[in-house]
Amino acid sequence: MTTTTESSGRPPSPPPDSQPVLSLHGVSKSFGAVSALTDIDLEVFPREVVALVGDNGAGKSTLVKVLAGVHLPDSGEIRFEGRPVHVTDPSTALGLGIATVFQDLALCENLDVVANLFLGQELSPLRLDEVHMETRSWELLHELSARIPSLRTPVASLSGGQRQTVAIARSLLLDPKVIILDEPTAALGVAQTAEVLDLIERVRERGLGVIMVSHNMEDVRAVADRIVVLRLGRNNGVFEATASNEELVSAITGASDNSVSRRTARRTQAAADATDPASTPTPTEADS
Ligand SMILES: Nc1ncnc2c1ncn2[C@@H]1O[C@H](COP(=O)(O)OP(=O)(O)OP(=O)(O)O)[C@@H](O)[C@H]1O
Ligand SMILES: [Mg+2]
Repeated sequence: MTTTTESSGRPPSPPPDSQPVLSLHGVSKSFGAVSALTDIDLEVFPREVVALVGDNGAGKSTLVKVLAGVHLPDSGEIRFEGRPVHVTDPSTALGLGIATVFQDLALCENLDVVANLFLGQELSPLRLDEVHMETRSWELLHELSARIPSLRTPVASLSGGQRQTVAIARSLLLDPKVIILDEPTAALGVAQTAEVLDLIERVRERGLGVIMVSHNMEDVRAVADRIVVLRLGRNNGVFEATASNEELVSAITGASDNSVSRRTARRTQAAADATDPASTPTPTEADS
């Protein structure tokens, strides 16, 4: 496995002796003849954003579902705060403190922000304590510096970024220690993406471990402390956020010969030629 050693210029990485809040060791999961995950290792520390990247079919969503209690792993071990755990169903995951925001967000369009935040966990089972729920919603969104126009706005009229914010805030109500976000910026424009990335940073500041699945290397680099690459259901490298595009693309595709690596090689060659007059210049390939 590849591990970069450069500093990322971000908040310091967790001290080496601190304990991961969540870790996987040798986790495998097959669907019939398809090996979706083979021998996966993963660690997430408190106050850390781990980006999970990989090509289509690499196993990212399967890994998320294993952690969310949707799929049972065939083998391997999951540890939560150092203890081996069996995440047999979604409520076990939530009970442990592992919250997942799936890509479809599962919000109710016709209900307002407060109702969506408390869906299924209304404060009083017999009588909805509207005042308390509204106060708690306001506090939470304020803590997250979320930009939601009104708590009484139906979710249908919110932007994509605001919906993502509501979904993330909802998952925080149960006070999890780890939050898993599947493609949180996939359908968002530039400003909304920035808003959601800011929100992820604030979730990290609250001390949570965050796992973020993403295809967007720019978003990943903007917010992740470490980048874990999956390829064909296996670990294929752990990188710091300073990793080059070339390194990441190579790890994701498994090919060291791709358009990014070829361009980098041409630039490196051109720089070497410029500083070493003895070398043979290749002007036609110097920079394209
Ligand atoms: N419920 C399932 N039944 C059968 N095969 C599945 C199931 N879920 C996933 N797979 C297979 O497992 C492999 C990994 O799929 P997965 O959805 O985890 O990939 P992914 O990395 O999330 O891809 P994408 O970026 O396209 O979302 C694929 O070959 C997929 O077809
Ligand atoms: Mg997926």
